[in-house]
Amino acid sequence: MSDRPPTIAMCEPTWFGVEYVINPWMEGQVGRASRDVARQQWQALYELLRPLASLVVQPAAPHLPDMCFVANAGLVLDDLFVASVFRVRQRAPEVTHDRAFFAARGLRVVELPDDQAFEGEGDALFQPGEPLLWAGYGVRSSLESHRTLTGLLDVEVVSLRLVDQRFYHLDTCFVPLPEGRVLYYPAAFDELSLREIERRIPAERRLAVAEADALRFACNAVRVGTTIVTNHASETLQERLAGWGYRVRTTALDEFLLAGGAAKCLCLYLEQEIPDEPRAPVASPIRDAGLELHGHLLDTTLLNRALDLVADAGGSFRVEHFEIGERHDQPSVARLRVSAPTEERLEWIVASLLPLGVRSAGSSLDARLEPVTIAGVAPLDFYATTIYPTEIQIAGRWHRVGSQRMDAVILVDPDVDPPQPRCTLMRDLPLGARVVCGVDGVRVQRPPVTRRDGDFAFMSASVSSERRVELVVEELAWEMRRIRARDGRIVVVAGPVVIHTGGGRHLAALIRSGTVQALLTGNALPVHDIELALYGTSLGVDLARGEGVHGGHQHHLKAINRVRAAGSIRAAVEQEILTSGVMYECVRHGVPYVLAGSIRDDGPLPDTQMDLIEAQAACARAIEGADMILLLASMLHAIGVGNMTPAGVRLICVDISPAVVTKLADRGSVESTGIVTDVGLFLNLLARRLCGEER
Ligand code: ARG
Repeated sequence: MSDRPPTIAMCEPTWFGVEYVINPWMEGQVGRASRDVARQQWQALYELLRPLASLVVQPAAPHLPDMCFVANAGLVLDDLFVASVFRVRQRAPEVTHDRAFFAARGLRVVELPDDQAFEGEGDALFQPGEPLLWAGYGVRSSLESHRTLTGLLDVEVVSLRLVDQRFYHLDTCFVPLPEGRVLYYPAAFDELSLREIERRIPAERRLAVAEADALRFACNAVRVGTTIVTNHASETLQERLAGWGYRVRTTALDEFLLAGGAAKCLCLYLEQEIPDEPRAPVASPIRDAGLELHGHLLDTTLLNRALDLVADAGGSFRVEHFEIGERHDQPSVARLRVSAPTEERLEWIVASLLPLGVRSAGSSLDARLEPVTIAGVAPLDFYATTIYPTEIQIAGRWHRVGSQRMDAVILVDPDVDPPQPRCTLMRDLPLGARVVCGVDGVRVQRPPVTRRDGDFAFMSASVSSERRVELVVEELAWEMRRIRARDGRIVVVAGPVVIHTGGGRHLAALIRSGTVQALLTGNALPVHDIELALYGTSLGVDLARGEGVHGGHQHHLKAINRVRAAGSIRAAVEQEILTSGVMYECVRHGVPYVLAGSIRDDGPLPDTQMDLIEAQAACARAIEGADMILLLASMLHAIGVGNMTPAGVRLICVDISPAVVTKLADRGSVESTGIVTDVGLFLNLLARRLCGEER
């Protein structure tokens, strides 16, 4: 570092214009930029910089309207010129001219592999005073180029992901300043990149620019010593920079803004202010993984979803191999290489791909097992489970995980041989057990996704509200009869609305007929069911007449009190206090019920489990081996039970609110059906189908 003026390259705007659209700024501007105005503005910038820096002017090559944005020619460090590999084909012809010009200035030109897009200093800025390069990716430059740069330059490269197309190059939203400071526009970056910036630059050294400044390219600034030259900076911004000792000089560059560029884009630093001492090789934090996908990748849009997921999560991918099934019934195979800026992000991406059925390509890595060191607490990077059948590899062999459910941890008991991995809630992790961490050696079996072309549309994942409810109920009754015929289990999860809507007697009939093997609910359904049996009202409303009964609001409390006096619901039935209704039928027919309490419960009934951990465990036991679960007008208990249900169980969700139905039925498979309708009406129709003889 020295005090003599730095050398900066500029390229004449002789052929400048907006002739194509390669960024959002150019949209609608084709043919509208004036070359004369641009020339005047460029000249003004040049004059402003002349006393501050030693300027080198590159002549323009004909018919290359963006070549004046010399920041995109490459990146210079010492005598090295890393030439750009343009992602956009319109600018690719600039490269030959740039290489020749900078080579003629005595720089050693190095080239990146031609499949590693890298748009020069536009996407790569050194932190003054430190051997650190901030590099943007996500719009123009590729993540892969960052790894190559690390090796070429022997500096640490921090990959920052750009997420707003308007800030498509790093130099449009980020200005590293001496003394470990930065000026930046946070909304241009994704969450993890912001965290990376915050981790490295303490709050008092970060200056977040407001949107209005950012949109006028305030961050596209050239800094020379303590002067900052830019197209625009609000008074507030100028004051804040003055507080750091900088003088801001603005110069209008709006003609260039039509092409998406301003001051910084028009300049390329030929010297970097980073320490002179010899640098040692640095390892790149970028990681990649080979992955494989099988199945109807195109018809089911599985491949698109996988690739979108990688891109949305800030990774990059390359399809290394793709074999398309030639016929409608033939599966395809794709092999991908996925890269991410850090190990942490790669694991995160792979973990989110696993539920799509994506597997590690060919690798035979065992699952990583880490010990539980605090009971009830998982190791930091534990693998979180999904509803889908999962296998893990231990000592080269795959083992199916037991008790599959979502949001659990996979526990492996070290003393059990052969291993029997199983899903366990975090709170139940015992000290010393081992837990699957990371994503190695984990594979998830994705149930076959059906095509949307109707070849298997029967009762499929759709939400039925327009289809005649009768028709859906008829299909459902058929399925339920088949389940019962093979002694399968049907579990009902229901809310109090079942009673309020007059569905109680139909549910009671279903229980009487042996259709229901367990009832999961809260305190309210039994309370109103018993209220109805004792007083003919449900929450004080006479269900026969449909109107409120004088003093009826007390009925449910009286009902609770009667059961409390008897000791339990069963005792109330035995003492012939309770002689009809849903709970009565459960007791009479030996159908187990779990009443999981909540904060809004009155009473509660003696049978209501107010210990929620116990209640969750009881529900989990009750749904074991279930073939079908009916979720009837209950959001809280239905979601609670949905969370512990593995894939493969038929879920039927009935609610008057489409939002509730969509939330519950959206398991992305043929197994769930949503029915938007009145639950009383639904139960009436269903009971008529299944217990018609009773009527
Ligand atoms: N029209 C040019 C492009 O989209 C503008 C380049 C601006 N340069 C920069 N370093 N941000 O490529």
